[in-house]
Amino acid sequence: MKKTIVTACIAMAAMLMFVSGPTQAKDLSGQLEIFSWWAGDEGPALQALIDLYKKQNPKVELINATVTGGSGVNAKAVLKTRMLGGEPPDSFQVHAGQELIGTWVQADRMEDLTFLFKEQGWMNSFPEGLVKLIGTDSGIWSVPVNIHRSNVVWYIPANLEKWGIKAPTSWDDFFAVAPKLKEQGIVPLALAQNWTANHLWESVALAAVGPDNWDALWAGKLAFDSAEGVKAWELFGKVLEYTNDDASSLSWQQANDMVVDGRAAFNVMGDWAAGYMSTTKKLAPGSGFGWAASPGTGGEFMFLADSFGLPKGAPNRDNVLAWLSILGSQEGSDAFNPLKGSISARTDSDLSKYNDYAKSASADFGKDRIVGSLAHGVTANEGFMNDFASVMEMFLKSGDAAAAGKAAQQIAVKNGISK
Ligand code: GAL
Repeated sequence: MKKTIVTACIAMAAMLMFVSGPTQAKDLSGQLEIFSWWAGDEGPALQALIDLYKKQNPKVELINATVTGGSGVNAKAVLKTRMLGGEPPDSFQVHAGQELIGTWVQADRMEDLTFLFKEQGWMNSFPEGLVKLIGTDSGIWSVPVNIHRSNVVWYIPANLEKWGIKAPTSWDDFFAVAPKLKEQGIVPLALAQNWTANHLWESVALAAVGPDNWDALWAGKLAFDSAEGVKAWELFGKVLEYTNDDASSLSWQQANDMVVDGRAAFNVMGDWAAGYMSTTKKLAPGSGFGWAASPGTGGEFMFLADSFGLPKGAPNRDNVLAWLSILGSQEGSDAFNPLKGSISARTDSDLSKYNDYAKSASADFGKDRIVGSLAHGVTANEGFMNDFASVMEMFLKSGDAAAAGKAAQQIAVKNGISK
């Protein structure tokens, strides 16, 4: 009898170890510095994760190091300086895909997290395609926290009704109403600083070339200066005619505000805009703000995922492992994503905790054709992204589609995407 009780106790202890994982069983102290661009309006979802961490690890001093600037325009440069200077943060935000693999993994700066995935029982918790984007033959390199959608057009239903228009399902639909809006002093499509031009470009390019050709561009099977590739820039140039002149001085939130305030009709932005409008602006999805797939991309879901990893030489490794354990858990994911506008990267998330926008994104993610985002790290490495920003600058000044196609092809060759 005694022996049975002892055996049962040992089994129970082993089970508890397995469920909570050894990384959380420790009484952690010291510091944890997490690095991201989720500052200000982008902060509430991250704060939910920080709160969970503090509850579980009250003795750890958490340093929330943020560098403002949508899509990490400024944060990525600071990160590079720190990584190359041998002063990595404990854990940092990085997009799943080439931003992670083609940059930090290739440079051998990240620790393999396969052991953590096994320990936490995550080997089957994320979609296979996503695990491929954060992994290589030699390891799994980060923990994904969300799935965002890039190709969304946002609007305010009451304003569209007032102006007697509908959300465009194609760019031709948009061109049919845009001049009339302009005549009334309404900006047809709100745009912000240059990274948002890259963001708009990918939605327009997807509409222009279609999903097969989009994939072919990144697989090096279709040239950027092919007739198809140039078509994307031509359409983009036409769309730009209906955007605001002060775009380069605005943040993505300010462009979104133009739509909310009725100064603009539409805005193409990722679904962090849903997080902004519901969490910060307190608008109800559906009645307060509306959405649709960006023109010409119905049935296609251009996705991206934020993730956090463990850089080699992180000063507080154990504290990072506890952080990553929360990020990958169902509890962490379902605390973070409803505030962020994204859906959970896990396949078992509790949809009852999400609003109507997220529910619709989740349904689309389950049935749409999935393609990767350029502007947010999925399809191309940092080298290409930096060069692409210059191509964009050039196009914004010249409007020369053929030259932009040619320049894009040159940087694709330079950065190993095309031959
Ligand atoms: C993306 C990021 C999103 C959101 C957005 C705007 O790159 O993946 O989570 O932060 O930038 O800053």
